[in-house]
Amino acid sequence: MYKIENILITGGAGYIGSHIAERLVKKKNIIILDNLITGHKRLINKKAKFINGDIKDKRKLIKIIKDNNIDSIIHLAAFLNVRESEKNKKKYFKNNINGTLNLIHACKNSTVKNIIFSSSCSVYGNVKGPVNEKKRLNPQNYYAYTKLKSEEIIKKFSKKYRYRYGILRYFNVAGASPSGKIGEIEASHGHLIKNIAIQSLKSKPVISIYGNDYSTKDGTCIRDYIHVSDLVDIHIKTLNYVNTKSKSLVLNCGYGKGYSVLDIIKIFKETNKNLIVKYKSRRIGDVDKVYADVKKIKSILRWKPKYNNIRKIIKSSIKWESFL
Ligand SMILES: NC(=O)c1ccc[n+]([C@@H]2O[C@H](COP(=O)([O-])OP(=O)(O)OC[C@H]3O[C@@H](n4cnc5c(N)ncnc54)[C@H](O)[C@@H]3O)[C@@H](O)[C@H]2O)c1
Repeated sequence: MYKIENILITGGAGYIGSHIAERLVKKKNIIILDNLITGHKRLINKKAKFINGDIKDKRKLIKIIKDNNIDSIIHLAAFLNVRESEKNKKKYFKNNINGTLNLIHACKNSTVKNIIFSSSCSVYGNVKGPVNEKKRLNPQNYYAYTKLKSEEIIKKFSKKYRYRYGILRYFNVAGASPSGKIGEIEASHGHLIKNIAIQSLKSKPVISIYGNDYSTKDGTCIRDYIHVSDLVDIHIKTLNYVNTKSKSLVLNCGYGKGYSVLDIIKIFKETNKNLIVKYKSRRIGDVDKVYADVKKIKSILRWKPKYNNIRKIIKSSIKWESFL
């Protein structure tokens, strides 16, 4: 067990990374590395040390790790637009796969002992019931493939470079910090609850449903939504676990309940009856249904969600949008 003091957060100027920094900065030295491509200056925690840089720059990474005596890395930096990943595989290969490989190689002969990685439920592809961590991985789009490859890279070098890892497969992340200071700014990722929050401010809100012929109860895609604040807890607990137990692990991060796109829209309509729904054709790379089996995370981390109420999650995203 090592005392965790200096944590590097790649992608710490993004939506999820900024929430992790907000919590950790109270007790640890936080170094944020971000190229601000989808990150935002406004989300950078003032008490953290910010470095404007890219995970593709290995020399810089080696220097950052050395100069700051980094003992743990939380690696979130990635591109995450599924549609774009299908159109521009090279861009996603370079950034997500090669970027991760660079970061891992920069840990060779270094002080880094723990790596926490932001993976995604998309590595599973389409699933029938709740999915557990042992399920064979079957990515259905290029973004998901980059997450699978990154997981493999992190696992492959862990013994050689002597670090433990926590691979966290996030389901769909939504909501904003209770502090009211940070939330999701970037609108380019095409996330449903973010889109609803944007529309909530308009006098004639319109929301598009991409495909209503999926094999689900109402024909629209089913996802498991997790509040970003609960996800932050998971990171802190995982980091403590891998550090104190000297063990690596892979965990699903969701609530274990699936909501269809129509379910979410119906909830929004309870407070905003003006919403116009437009049906469009399916988007490339979307799967019918994916929601988590959360037995492992609950038993290993003794994690109990605090914000698992879909109405509150939507409300929190809408409240944040009106601050923006
Ligand atoms: N938001 C979700 O629902 C969700 C679900 C599953 C997994 N994830 C994963 O979580 C992580 C964070 O996602 P987010 O929602 O906060 O998105 P985000 O776009 O807000 O954050 C990603 C951050 O990484 C930075 N970045 C990208 N490439 C970089 C590079 N080469 N070098 C340095 N910085 C770089 C961006 O500028 C941005 O600040 C991503 O790895 C994503 O794949 C997110």
